[in-house]
Amino acid sequence: MTVLGGLGVARFLADHWQREPALIRQAVPGFAGPLSPEELAGLACEDGVESRLVLAEGGTVPFEVRDGPFREADFEALPETGWTLLVQSVDRWVPAVADLLDRFNFLPGWRLDDIMISYAPAGGGVGPHYDQYDVFLLQARGARRWRLGQRCTVDSPLRDHPSLRLLAAFDETEDHVLQPGDMLYLPPGIAHDGVALAPGLTYSIGFRAPSASEILTGLADTVAAGLTEDDRYRDARMADPGDAGEISASTVQVLRALVQDRMADPRVVATWFGSHMTEPREPETARPPETCLDLDDLRGALAVAGSELRRNEGSRLAFFEDGPGVVLFADGVPIDCDAATAAAARELCRRRRIPGATVTDWLARPAIATLLLRLVNDGTVYVTDPDSDPA
Ligand code: SIN
Ligand code: CO
Repeated sequence: MTVLGGLGVARFLADHWQREPALIRQAVPGFAGPLSPEELAGLACEDGVESRLVLAEGGTVPFEVRDGPFREADFEALPETGWTLLVQSVDRWVPAVADLLDRFNFLPGWRLDDIMISYAPAGGGVGPHYDQYDVFLLQARGARRWRLGQRCTVDSPLRDHPSLRLLAAFDETEDHVLQPGDMLYLPPGIAHDGVALAPGLTYSIGFRAPSASEILTGLADTVAAGLTEDDRYRDARMADPGDAGEISASTVQVLRALVQDRMADPRVVATWFGSHMTEPREPETARPPETCLDLDDLRGALAVAGSELRRNEGSRLAFFEDGPGVVLFADGVPIDCDAATAAAARELCRRRRIPGATVTDWLARPAIATLLLRLVNDGTVYVTDPDSDPA
């Protein structure tokens, strides 16, 4: 089940992803979402949850930003209209929100950033802006008008604002009103401005793309950490330099070969990238069990009817193929999995929830049991107890 409706995955990937906006009516028919506005406000009052209020006609500046966590009194003091509450990473805190991500399996899971949820009464919005990330804006309750505009870059003129990157100009190209269940996909760089017409919630499912600078510095740091002082520029048997002041083309060639040899090995690149992209966004959401579990504990937990193995909502998993096995990345750590464990590792990456019966079968194989125990004790996955856990 995806969220693409009649558009379909192949057409979405060919024509829209990273290229063109897409409007999908009733992507999730009648979507109301698992959270009420009051529950969202409750989350924004908790320590460790990142939240903001944006007041369209703020007391100090238009689109004044206030950072959470908030107190109930902060909400009571707000005007009737014209503000937005934004709560980041709600998928990390609410399992039922994380379940929505299964519908986005037509995209690589490691591209996912988070699900932000905003609540706005009529007139609420965060102002005209663009984002660096791909985003799916799914309306839950209420109605919201989205104006889309020009393609922007780092050179696009911005308004003078203390904290928001608001666009100075907006050349409107499209205008859509989203009702509950409707969804708008925006590639990076498209100017947009969403204003609530009736009180409602918007789920922003954001997909990150690491910057080239982040990739190069991260990979270079990791590679460099594995080198010694003996690894150096070498120019044995060089040609007569002719002009002692020159940095010759052959010197540049030696440098390029040095970079290429150390940085372009596919396994080195994949290992760094997998580790980097699965680092948890909020490490504090990790929840290893209070006492270390053994195989019998795990079997016992899975024997409860209706139990399942669930990915910790704050955890990230990915893999890459490596001979007959795979390298599994779990919350920033690479784990070599041989052919006997590769299928289970792939399945753990593909699905956030795995039925208890499947996992019980896996445990009969010692290599998989070792992997699962490690993941459970690291807090990457956990077994749900249907008697105490409504998720
Ligand atoms: C919002 O949900 O209010 C803002 C989402 C966005 O424009 O990126
Ligand atoms: Co935006």
